[in-house]
Amino acid sequence: MVQRIAIYPGSFDPVTNGHLDIIRRSAKIFDKVVVGVLKNGEKTPAFSPEERVDMLKRATADISNVEAKFFNGLLVDFVKQENASVIIKGLRAVSDFEYEFQLALLNSKLAPEIETMFLATSEQYCFLSSSIVRDIARHGGSLKDLVPDELIAPIYEKLRKF
Ligand code: PNS
Repeated sequence: MVQRIAIYPGSFDPVTNGHLDIIRRSAKIFDKVVVGVLKNGEKTPAFSPEERVDMLKRATADISNVEAKFFNGLLVDFVKQENASVIIKGLRAVSDFEYEFQLALLNSKLAPEIETMFLATSEQYCFLSSSIVRDIARHGGSLKDLVPDELIAPIYEKLRKF
């Protein structure tokens, strides 16, 4: 039987409980979900690619059909390399839509056989983003319920300024 493999791409700088919600729900739909961490994007990330993949591996250790790895270059090339056929994206609000719609159209232009599927972010994570997590950590606020418990200490260690 053909395995249905999906790619969930992003910066994951760092992974949040909002990302994990999308990963867990995708893992129930697909045979395998590969979380793709963009290595050389335009943004300068706070965490190295190795740290971001390591945090994802720790946070998804209990989900047997999820893998985390980094990729370079075009997303559609990574999707093909992993024998996947679907790109998963989470949508939090209308504000995400315009950019994500543009990327979905572009990727379908580059590789029409690859579909982008959007999952609506669960209500309790609609406000959450990696940049909010970084900001809270830098200023010593509580990360409880925003990221997995086991990642709170390493995130603080890297970002807390005082
Ligand atoms: O978490 P992010 O930073 O919003 O993720 C953006 C990401 C990694 C999905 C996007 O930048 C991407 O797909 N980059 C790979 C390069 C690529 O394929 N570019 C052309 C189409 S976006």
